[in-house]
Amino acid sequence: MKTQVAIVGAGPAGLLLSHLLHLEGIDSVVVETRSRAEIEATIRAGVLEQGTVDLLAQSGVGERMKREGMLHEGIVLRFAGASHRIALAELTGRAITVYAQHEVIKDLVKARLDAGGKILFEAKDAALYDLDSATPKLRLYHQDSLVEIACEFVAGCDGFHGVSRPSIPSRLRHEFARTYPFGWFGILVEAPASTAELIYAHHERGFALVSTRSPQIQRLYFQCDPQDDAKNWPDARIWDELHARLAGTDGWKLAEGRIFQRGIIAMRSFVVEPMRHGRLFLAGDAAHIVPPTGAKGLNLAVNDVRVLAAGLRQYFKSRNEEGLKTYSATALKRVWRAEHFSWWMTSMLHRFHDDTPFQHRLQLAELEYVVSSEAKAMTLAENYVG
Ligand code: PHB
Repeated sequence: MKTQVAIVGAGPAGLLLSHLLHLEGIDSVVVETRSRAEIEATIRAGVLEQGTVDLLAQSGVGERMKREGMLHEGIVLRFAGASHRIALAELTGRAITVYAQHEVIKDLVKARLDAGGKILFEAKDAALYDLDSATPKLRLYHQDSLVEIACEFVAGCDGFHGVSRPSIPSRLRHEFARTYPFGWFGILVEAPASTAELIYAHHERGFALVSTRSPQIQRLYFQCDPQDDAKNWPDARIWDELHARLAGTDGWKLAEGRIFQRGIIAMRSFVVEPMRHGRLFLAGDAAHIVPPTGAKGLNLAVNDVRVLAAGLRQYFKSRNEEGLKTYSATALKRVWRAEHFSWWMTSMLHRFHDDTPFQHRLQLAELEYVVSSEAKAMTLAENYVG
C-alpha cells in the first residue's frame, strides 16, 4: 500500500490531520489498534477552545458540535465556601465550548469514511521503519495479513503509550516529566445540570470539578489517591465526598443522579523534544501530556495538527520544507505555555501530600488574588480560552 502520509493513531490528532490533508488533496492512511466502536466510546476531555471550535467548523466537521456543544462564557472558582466567576468572554472576547472528545471523534471518523478515507482499525503490531530516509515505512497486521505502507511522511498521533515516540532513538529524545501524587476520580451521572458554568473547587479535602456533557448528563471529578481502586467507592461515598468538597455558605448544592461510568485518571506533565525525527512528526499525546486541570489536552493536539498540516501542505505544493523544519519549535512554544498553565492550575487547586498549613494559606491567597485582580483573572482567562 502506498500513501503520502501514514498516520499512526485515530485519536483527535490523527483523524483531524487526515481530514485537513484530504481537504488539501493530500492522501493519507490512518492505522489504529482499537476498533471504531472503542474509539467512539472512550470517555475523555470535553472543553474546546474557541480556536479548536473555529478550525473544526471551518474544515466542515463542526455542524453537530455547533448544534449540541454548549457555549460557556465563564468558569467558576470555588474556595473557602464561596463561588467566584471568571468572566472569560468579557475579559478576552473568546469563549469555550463543552463538547465531548468522543463526539469530535465520531464526527471526524464519519467525515473521513464518507469521503472514502482509509482507516485501518484493529491494526496489530505496527512498527515504523526507515524514518531517517526519504521513504519511511509502516508495517502492521490488519485482518491477519501483513500490510506494508510506503509513504513520504509518518505522523505519530498514537498517544502517550504508542509506538511512535519510542521509534525515535533515545539519545535523540529529551523527555521532561512530572508525575503528580494524586489522580482524578471521574464519574458520569444522569442528572440535570447543577450549574451553568464549570466549577473548579479548592478544598481541604482536595480538589473537585463540576463539568457537564449535556443537559441530562453531568461529568464530575474529585482528586483521589492514584493507586486507589474505583471499587472502594460505593455511590454514597462518592456523593459524600463531592458534597463535602463543594460545600459552601451560599446554599448552592450539587444535584445527585445515577452514576453510570466511573474511573481513576492519572495526572502527569510530559514533553518530548524535538517533536520530529527525520520523516516522523509527533502530534498530540504522543509528544506531550498535561494534567487535565487546564483543559488543554485536546486543544494542544489540534494546534499541533494545524501547524503540521500547514507544513505538509507547503511541502506537497511547492517542495518547500520550511514549515516542516519549524514544526517542532512552533508547536513546542504553545505546548510549554500550556504545560505551565496546567501545572499552575493544578498546583493552585490540589492538596499535596506534604502540604503544610502555610502552603494551604498560600493557595487561598493566590485564588483570592485571581478573583480580585483583573490582571490576574485575565492571565487565567487568556490561557484558558487559548
Ligand atoms: C471534562 O468535562 O471532562 C473536563 C472539564 C474541564 C477540565 C477537565 C475535564 O479541566
